Amino acid sequence: MRHMRFGQLPDGQAVDLHTIGTAPGPVLELLTLGATVHRLEVTCGDGVRRNVVLGHATVADRLASDAYLGATVGRYANRIAHGRFELAGREVVVGTHDRGNSLHGGPDGFDRRLWEVVSAGADHAALRLVSPDGDQGFPGELTAQVRYEVADGMVRVRHEATTDATTVVNLTNHSYFNLDGDGAGSVDHHLLSLDADAYVPVDPTGIPLGEPVPVDGTPFDFRAAAPIGPAVRSNDPQVVSARGIDHDVLVRGEGLRRAAVLESPATSTRLELWSDQPGLQVYTGNFLDGSLRSSLGKAYRQGDGIALEPQLHPDTPHHPDWPSAVLEPGERYVHVLEWRFD
Ligand code: BGC
Repeated sequence: MRHMRFGQLPDGQAVDLHTIGTAPGPVLELLTLGATVHRLEVTCGDGVRRNVVLGHATVADRLASDAYLGATVGRYANRIAHGRFELAGREVVVGTHDRGNSLHGGPDGFDRRLWEVVSAGADHAALRLVSPDGDQGFPGELTAQVRYEVADGMVRVRHEATTDATTVVNLTNHSYFNLDGDGAGSVDHHLLSLDADAYVPVDPTGIPLGEPVPVDGTPFDFRAAAPIGPAVRSNDPQVVSARGIDHDVLVRGEGLRRAAVLESPATSTRLELWSDQPGLQVYTGNFLDGSLRSSLGKAYRQGDGIALEPQLHPDTPHHPDWPSAVLEPGERYVHVLEWRFD
């Protein structure tokens, strides 16, 4: 493990960058700000080493951005309608900063916090964050830990959390992939396959409308590998309203299993996403509008990356029959995901 100073927060606190892994295997650069994946360099199918995730050049760019590039998002990834819900008999009100809803843990989410490196070696690093009781409105002091590990062509990310009072937790990693390399342009030609037979339709603010529906005959049908471009240009009202795909799909099966495959024919690079979560938010970078800059200074435009975010289904506090995000004292939240490169 190597580390260096990446930058500093406005109050002067240092943001560090830690590197794990060794070429020709994956080399992962992590930031203590947001326990963020800053760069992920892999050997592509054509033999060329490329950074296959989007990232910002500076701390200032990151703080000014609302794209969550590579960040660990929490305490509750995705949306909670109107930022209000009932938990253990009382009403919880959390920060709302996305069209009236709470998104990715509130305005000052885990992606904006300095995480402490609690262990690190050549191939792994673990980062910890203690989120106080009442943080963004969420009850209970939550201790979250994210452990990154690099091994044989893959990266494993293990999220854990414990609490001292009843709360909700839904952590994920928000990396956007471009298998032709960061800044290479659109991923429209990437082939996507999803191990999912149903998806959750949403209202214009991204809140689930009701029960999941079959993907059959919709642009969300990636049961067989298909290019992303035609789906995000479909006239399906769900796609039009979200400006592309920004939807939760129900991953078939249980336990750690394959959830998605992303492949670029241009560089012959293939990524499998494995996850133990019931849902996967597929987000095609719909709101990248040229205003954010990459770590190489290039503008990110719509569709320049795709985020595949394993998690619970969105807005679970309002859907008691869906897998629950409630965490009680004495319990441990665990979420494992893997990025496997061929
Ligand atoms: C959400 C998008 C949001 C993006 C943040 C995704 O996880 O589903 O609606 O815009 O994160 O940039």
